[in-house]
Amino acid sequence: MKERLEKLQHDALAALRDAADEKALQDARVRFLGKKGELTEVMKGMRDLAPEDRPVVGGLVNTVKEQFEALFTERHEILHQQAINQRLEQERVDVTLPGRKGFAGHKHPVTLVTEEIVALFSRLGFVVEEGPEIEQDFYNFEALNIPKDHPARDMQDTFYISDDLVLRTHTSPVQIRTMLRHQPPVRVIAPGTVYRRDSDLTHSPMFHQIEGFLVDKNITFGDLKGILTHFLKEYFGEDLGVRFRPSFFPFTEPSAEVDIACVICSGKGCRVCKGTGWLEILGSGMIDPEVFRAVDYDSTAYSGFAFGMGLERIAMLKYGVNDLRLFFENDLRFLRQF
Ligand code: PHE
Repeated sequence: MKERLEKLQHDALAALRDAADEKALQDARVRFLGKKGELTEVMKGMRDLAPEDRPVVGGLVNTVKEQFEALFTERHEILHQQAINQRLEQERVDVTLPGRKGFAGHKHPVTLVTEEIVALFSRLGFVVEEGPEIEQDFYNFEALNIPKDHPARDMQDTFYISDDLVLRTHTSPVQIRTMLRHQPPVRVIAPGTVYRRDSDLTHSPMFHQIEGFLVDKNITFGDLKGILTHFLKEYFGEDLGVRFRPSFFPFTEPSAEVDIACVICSGKGCRVCKGTGWLEILGSGMIDPEVFRAVDYDSTAYSGFAFGMGLERIAMLKYGVNDLRLFFENDLRFLRQF
């Protein structure tokens, strides 16, 4: 028994000394002092000993156990320190590395243009209104004098959600929503996202418009021309050429499309203006009495004008961008330029 214990003592202490890391140390502890550990087995075997042998063997076992614990603690301390030192060595901080710069984001070009235009009209007393992107047929079409089955519906390729719900094809429904809630005078600028089934160099199925409208007593086409000319010159430059061309919209009468002199060639004619020297920039007109009827405004007492324009188109002209889809691809090389 004594010999067995001496061998055990020798093996146990050797195992501790040889342990190369904390894991090996723990393994050694399990091997000797675990539930089925070698030293534990000896202790269990004590009850089979003759009573007079017990104190001797017990003493020896305790000595081995104490030595084991002491060496274990010592080795654990050393190996633990070694592990820390090794990590410090591996994860050394290079204080000569340049610091990490905070990433400063910025506004999307379409947002920039929207905010600039809203700010400009705010200075003229227009207030911001918004409407839902999923719109009822009534607001998007019906109340704007575009009845069901009317050919005018074909002007806009519509995404229908149901017979009665569409993704709004323009911001004009905000006219209806506003006028149903407020009595004249109203003076509103309404930016927002709109949708049409269209996709090429100059069209995206999702794009943005800004709508403006003003209703009051004695509003004339002269007011429309004055405000829009002021806006365009203020935005693109005082010397900018502006022209009004007769057009048609179901919700305005008379209607005008507004062109500006080509910002690329200043009117000489180029690829962007297709040789005409002019760029179509917005639709406008005097609000049709049929629209006033739909919102219960008295068209003998009040008159007004409305206009709508595509914000990506404005951003393209302002920044000289030749493909509208770039605005939505989220390529940072493009976006960082604004
Ligand atoms: N809603 C029209 C469009 O999207 C633009 C417009 C607005 C025209 C207001 C006239 C008056 O094409």
